Formats: sequence, C-alpha cells, structure tokens
Amino acid sequence: MPASSTARAAPFVWGVSTSSYQIEGGVDLDGRGPSIWDGYCRVPGRIGNDDTGDVACDHYRRWPEDVALMKDLGVGAYRFSVAWPRVLPDGKGPLNPKGLAFYDRLTDALLEAGIEPWVCLYHWDLPQGLQETGGWIARDTAGRFADYATVVARRLSDRVTRFATFNESGVFLIFGFLLGGQAPGIRDLTAYHAAIHHVNLAHGLGVDAIRAQAPRALIGDIHNIQPVLPETPGRAEDEAAAATFGAYWNAACPDPRFLGHYPAVVHAGVERFVRPGDMAAICRPVDWLGINHYSPIYAKGDAAAPLGFAWGAAPADAPKSGIGWPIFPDAFRTTLLDAHRRYGLPIYVTENGMGHDDVLADGACRDPYRSEYLGLYVDAMGRAVAEGADVRGYFAWSLLDNFEWGAGYANRFGLVYMDYPTGTRVPKDSFRWFADRIRRGWSGR
Ligand code: FCB
Repeated sequence: MPASSTARAAPFVWGVSTSSYQIEGGVDLDGRGPSIWDGYCRVPGRIGNDDTGDVACDHYRRWPEDVALMKDLGVGAYRFSVAWPRVLPDGKGPLNPKGLAFYDRLTDALLEAGIEPWVCLYHWDLPQGLQETGGWIARDTAGRFADYATVVARRLSDRVTRFATFNESGVFLIFGFLLGGQAPGIRDLTAYHAAIHHVNLAHGLGVDAIRAQAPRALIGDIHNIQPVLPETPGRAEDEAAAATFGAYWNAACPDPRFLGHYPAVVHAGVERFVRPGDMAAICRPVDWLGINHYSPIYAKGDAAAPLGFAWGAAPADAPKSGIGWPIFPDAFRTTLLDAHRRYGLPIYVTENGMGHDDVLADGACRDPYRSEYLGLYVDAMGRAVAEGADVRGYFAWSLLDNFEWGAGYANRFGLVYMDYPTGTRVPKDSFRWFADRIRRGWSGR
C-alpha cells in the first residue's frame, strides 16, 4: 500500500494462513498425541472419501519448502496454528520438547525469510486426552487452555509478537456440538451451550496467560463473521431463523469477549453455566480482531430443530464458487464496516479464499476463477477501508491445498496445488496473481 495513502505508521500486512491439522500430517511423529480430529476421521462416512489428516501436506517434514514458497510469494506474514497435542500430547501434564521444537524451527526460518509469524493457539485440534475428561463441555478445559497458552507463549515470545487465542470459535462450536459435521461430533443443545461458555472463558484466561509471558505481544482473536440471510426474504420463519442463527454464528463468542455480554438469545441458553466473575474474566483487552470471511450464509426456519433454524439454500441464480459457496463481495465490505463499528478493534482479514476442484494439466494449474474471486474481495476490502473500516491486513486462505475438514482433500483452497500422491507443490496461476497484487497494494495501483 502506498505510504502516502494512509496516516497509519505500520504498513498493511499481506499474508497467507494455514492450520496445523490441515497441513502438518506426521500425526505419530516425535511424540505427538492424538487429537479429536484423528479419531473423528476414523469413523467411515464422516469425511469425504474417508480422508484423514494423517499425511495431509506432510508440512511437518516439508516445511522448508513451504517457507521458500512464501518468500517467493512475497508475503510479509504467515498465520499458522500450533497443534496442542504436539506440545502437550495428553493436553496437560508433561511437555513434549520435540513438538515445541518444531514451532521453534519454523519461527526461526520464517524470521530469517523476512516473514512475520502469527501464531494461533487453537485451530480445532483438541488433544483427545482432554476430550476424555469432557472436552469443552468441561469447565476445567478452559484452565488447561491457559496452561497450554503459557507454555507456547513462554517459548516463542522472544521472537513472536502476534498471538491469537482461537480460530472461529463460533464455527467449531456449532458444527462440533449442535449441527454435526465436525469433531467431536456431538449434537446436544445443553452441551453446545456449556461449550460456548467454556471456550469463551478459555479465551479470556488465554489472553491473560499470553500477556503474562509476552507483555509486548499484540494479542488477537479470530472469528468467522458473515451475514446470515433468510432463505426466503419476508417469510417470517426464515427471518426469525436468520436472526437466531446470526446471533449464535456471529456474536455468541465475539460479543462476550469484546463487549462483555452475550446476545440475549444466547444468554438464555448459557446462563446456567456462568459463574460470578466469569464475564469479566472473558472480556479481557485484546489488540486486534481477525475476521475470516468467504460468503454470506442462509437460514431457514425448522420447527423441529433445537434452536428453530437450519441451513438454508443460497439463491439459485447467485454466482458461486466451484464448491458452491455464493460469491458476494459486497457482503464482505459491509461485514468489515459492521465489525469495525461494533467492536472498534483494528481488523485483520485472517482468511478469505475460494474453494474449487482444481486440476493439474501439463504441469500447471490454471485457476483464473480464483484470481478473479480474490480480486473482487480485495477490492471490496479496499472500499470498506475507504469508507472508514480500520482494516490493517489481509491473509489469503490458503498457502496450500489441504485437508478441508468434512470435505477431505476434494475442496482445494490453495494458491499452491498439492499433488497429494507425491507431495509435490505447484504454484497455481493465482499464486502469481496474488504476488503481483501484493506488490501493487490493496488499492490496485
Ligand atoms: C474456515 C476454516 C479453515 C478452512 C476454511 C475454508 O472456516 O477456519 O480452516 O477450512 O474455512
């Protein structure tokens, strides 16, 4: 971004994001313990093609290639997550020095390449040992998260100045505990409400734990925020469903963390788990808000559903990505503006990207649709900035094609094509497009 176009001291941050379970593989290497995703993937029929993250991109062994790719891309920052079960194989108790050393090496190599490490502590791979004592349904897990945050921050804070507590709490909670489709695979309204509150508490305790180890670090929290729209506008059941779904999806975690209270409809469900002092413990000062955004989502009324809402369909004529997600860049602009007004925190777009069933032909991956999508969304972000949203960075999802949760390896989001049988990485055309856009800045000039 041209320095003259802004009074801000820090330059705009361009980056890419990944997460541990989606890329690392090496699930049995160097003392890593099992995570809830290892077990979840073992049940036939849950994941597309019955894929697992056992090997994924083999990043645990091939990470030097990935750092080199990022250097070539020209990003200034890399957001990755630490696998809790690599560091504390059972979730608590003895530390695994080899697991922690992996993130040490990665951090050093990034810094040497001129890339700032952004460390996210939780991108969904809870240690299985903690699941066995109740996982997020158990209040005690919040304290275990703070202990884990202490260990990681103590080790990395001499070199890492950006930490995030959680990735998309609202998403793993709703799919993991209410709707199904993600680990730990529970569908129970009471469990869902307990887990919401305990993850929020873990965030607040985690912020304090990181701050105690790394007083100069900039601590953030990452949420997937997107408009929840009624499947049939004007239909009362769908309008009500969209409002409830939106309160849970978009606000059940950020509101208590940044504003100090739950949305009314969520409060009614979580109230029984809230103890005196909890809201103050959850609402701790943070330095930035990460927003992940791909598209709006749709809701429809469903009287049989526990909270009265179900997934709705996007309009049939909406433009869609290769995996069927609606393309609606203006919803990104309004999301950034709304989040800016609601929370008043500096914003970093920590994920945005396009999923497609890409193919490799003659050694190349031609993906003009992805460059077009990214261009539309970066332009929409530029409009939000021009209208006053305090957006300070943009991270594309993702560096590499990777294990896309329930879809397995079928949905490709990478700027780099993964040839899974060989582990070969092939930069797609969109990689070159993004490298060029980074040079030109978000305004495109
Ligand atoms: C987000 C997740 C990320 C990835 C993208 C496509 O919700 O944070 O891990 O799966 O979607």
